[in-house]
Amino acid sequence: MSELSSRQAKKLSDYKAPEFTITDVELSFELSPEATALTAVYQVVSASGKAGTLILDGQELKLLSVSLDGQLLNADSYQVTAEQLILPGMPAKAQLELKIELNPKANTALEGLYLSNGAYCTQCEAEGFRRISYYLDRPDVLARFTTHIIADDNTYPALLSNGNLVSSTLLPDGRRHVTWVDPFPKPSYLFALVAGDFDCLKGSYTTGSGREVALEFYVDKGNKQRAHFALESLKRAMLWDEQSFGLEYDLDVYMVVAVDFFNMGAMENKGLNVFNSKYVLADQSSATDTDFFNIESIIGHEYFHNWTGNRVTCRDWFQLSLKEGLTVFRDQQFSADMGSATLNRIDAVKTIRTAQFAEDAGPMAHPIRPQQVLEMNNFYTVTVYDKGAEVIRMLHTLLGQAGFRKGMDLYFKRHDGQAVTCDDFVSAMQDANGRDLTLFSRWYQQSGTPQLKVHSHYDAKKREFKLLMQQHTAGTADQAEKLPLLLPVRLELLAEGKSYPYLLEMTEAEQEFTFAVSQKPIPVLLADFSAPVKLHYQYQMDELLLIARDAKDGVARWDAIQQLWQMQVIAAIDAKNTGAEYLLPGELLEFYRQLLAKPLEDLAFTAELLTVPGYDMVAEQFDEIPVQDLVWVLQNFQQQLATKLVEQWRLCYKSLHPAAYQYQEQHVAKRALRSVCLQYLAFVVGSDELLRQQYQHSDNMTDQLAVLRSCRTASHPLFAELMADFEQRWNNDVLVLDKWFSLSASYPQSSVFDTLEQLTAHPQFSWQNPNRVRAVFGAFYQQNPQMFHSADGKGYQVLADVVLKMDSINPQVAARLVTPLLSWKRYQAQSQLQLKSVLQTMLAKDLSDDLYEKVSKSLN
Ligand code: ARG
Ligand code: ZN
Repeated sequence: MSELSSRQAKKLSDYKAPEFTITDVELSFELSPEATALTAVYQVVSASGKAGTLILDGQELKLLSVSLDGQLLNADSYQVTAEQLILPGMPAKAQLELKIELNPKANTALEGLYLSNGAYCTQCEAEGFRRISYYLDRPDVLARFTTHIIADDNTYPALLSNGNLVSSTLLPDGRRHVTWVDPFPKPSYLFALVAGDFDCLKGSYTTGSGREVALEFYVDKGNKQRAHFALESLKRAMLWDEQSFGLEYDLDVYMVVAVDFFNMGAMENKGLNVFNSKYVLADQSSATDTDFFNIESIIGHEYFHNWTGNRVTCRDWFQLSLKEGLTVFRDQQFSADMGSATLNRIDAVKTIRTAQFAEDAGPMAHPIRPQQVLEMNNFYTVTVYDKGAEVIRMLHTLLGQAGFRKGMDLYFKRHDGQAVTCDDFVSAMQDANGRDLTLFSRWYQQSGTPQLKVHSHYDAKKREFKLLMQQHTAGTADQAEKLPLLLPVRLELLAEGKSYPYLLEMTEAEQEFTFAVSQKPIPVLLADFSAPVKLHYQYQMDELLLIARDAKDGVARWDAIQQLWQMQVIAAIDAKNTGAEYLLPGELLEFYRQLLAKPLEDLAFTAELLTVPGYDMVAEQFDEIPVQDLVWVLQNFQQQLATKLVEQWRLCYKSLHPAAYQYQEQHVAKRALRSVCLQYLAFVVGSDELLRQQYQHSDNMTDQLAVLRSCRTASHPLFAELMADFEQRWNNDVLVLDKWFSLSASYPQSSVFDTLEQLTAHPQFSWQNPNRVRAVFGAFYQQNPQMFHSADGKGYQVLADVVLKMDSINPQVAARLVTPLLSWKRYQAQSQLQLKSVLQTMLAKDLSDDLYEKVSKSLN
């Protein structure tokens, strides 16, 4: 049923400037759950000054009338198709008025105008505005918006839109009429409207130039206390952007609304951010340290968009990384300044090495600036966002902090108020620094993960150390031919107890670098993960241990331990295949023993070093992933470490006395190390008391959840009992209950299949709420590889059924959940057959564009 003809992919190369633009928009909404009345008035201007045909985008709209310059048009003077309103004979300059009826209640796709727990809200990025009105729904059409909202004053006391509130009048019929004016021209994807009955947490911020900005957080009734951390995070973000980039906020009010029904994390609508409530609400008893961290970083991210995204926006959606890669880079720098730069960098590296490398190796591979798109929502990816941020980071590395800042200043000077391209951004960097970045731009065009192979040679006579480096990028699903890229390679040479730092620039497929050194050094390659590549260098175990102790760069020290574990995994699988027992080498145990006896000053970094890499991290080094072997080996390693160092784990655990909860760097670090110890201890007998104690007596969610997680991972008998208690305690708090949903779905035993059925029948579960669906099924495939890949193919079937069910409710969510099924080529023969068969069954159905694009590509 999937007719290819009706599915037209758009191409970057087909970009054309719009023939008409809209300079001013006036929207009047009379809200009603099933019949919202919208009047939309546009000032339309032809770019060429000539009359022509105006084609507006629109989807699932009920069009009631069309008027041109006050004149009602009869229905045969325009044409309405499933996706367009076509108006021939449009004058060069005219006022167009549309009357439209909307049904927010029926909107389960959560794009356009919808209801979330009775409150109205909108999501327009990327192409959601066309589900509100017919419009030139493209980011290069910038208009001034005025928004009127009329709704019952008792039921919806908060009526919000972009910009500044200019009037609010109570009507005789008990409804209120408010008017918002946004003075900054903006594309339609930044439009927002919210109406509801909220608690509002207020604050204020005075900008560097002395302007006072009202800060308002709208949250569900009773949740005000949980919004304080987000409010404080916002103030820190506002100050940080002034200090780091000289960028100030530009409206009188900055509003954030937390909603329960949301497809993504959050949205940077001008002056009116809408957030998934899980990234706003937090207190010590309901949120973990990680939740607090995410809130600060996402609050920062959306705030930073006000300049990188809103003041300067994208010309077309292929340029998405212009705003997203840059804004992720900015939020990463912000988080690094608010906490530990090393730990933040380690987190980012994990994302690239797991999800991003996997995406580049799969059927959806695309450059950070994609060249072809069927459904734009499919390109809000870890490639566009996180690899995009790595590309910006490389520019920062190459130009230095000051040079990067010069480039940013020039970018804003040239493009404030415009819709521009990634090339415009690179040009600003290039011109501000007088440096040719032509070769660098290839990062925007080329997909795939470069492999960087390095060989070294020391000439003792000449006292010369040589590095021979080769880069190669294999063809990807979207692009067969690849060219060499500009790779900034940070290097330390460790010799004579010192570290000598270098920054190499690799520009060719093959290059040799020579260093004068008086003894044979150990090279620390790709320090700070200075380029998003896979490094291959034959390190010896003792070299890696030395790097872990002596390198200057923390990321490199952590990475050395990662590489050590990768070597262990290979060796253990080899041993397993010959039926031999594999014991972890004494040197590695000794390194851990010492680290536990005398943790480094940074306890969070110590915790990272003591953690065996996760399944995804290890899996990514295999072309064909031996899933069950990996699961077994990683479990076995943890078991060995647990038993061999049991006294050390216990002592270290006991030495870390919990203090009254604070979300503060040292406290977070201490809890992290304590959780690592606890995780190992859950693998040895006789830990019940300790687990129970921590669960019952801790004053915060981080420590309680650490117990449940440890029990889950070790399949500990206490798991069922504690989980039952947790469910009861939090049954009325869905955000916390999501943690319980995820833990239940990630229990690595075959009982999980019955559990999944029980979870979807749970009174708090809802297929309409993306958070619930992701909590259960996202956790199932991300954190339960053992059962997701169970030999009978049951895990695949379960997920495929959920994806199909979701496709008719919410295609965006369906298209995200399908991800793990797409990369069938990475698995062993039997899994390949099972996966292919569920994908083929899916493709035979009538799919949304979102799902069709991914499934059809995966079967190509
Ligand atoms: N611009 C938002 C952010 O990154 C994300 C919007 C995602 N929208 C979507 N339809 N996928 O902050
Ligand atoms: Zn963003």
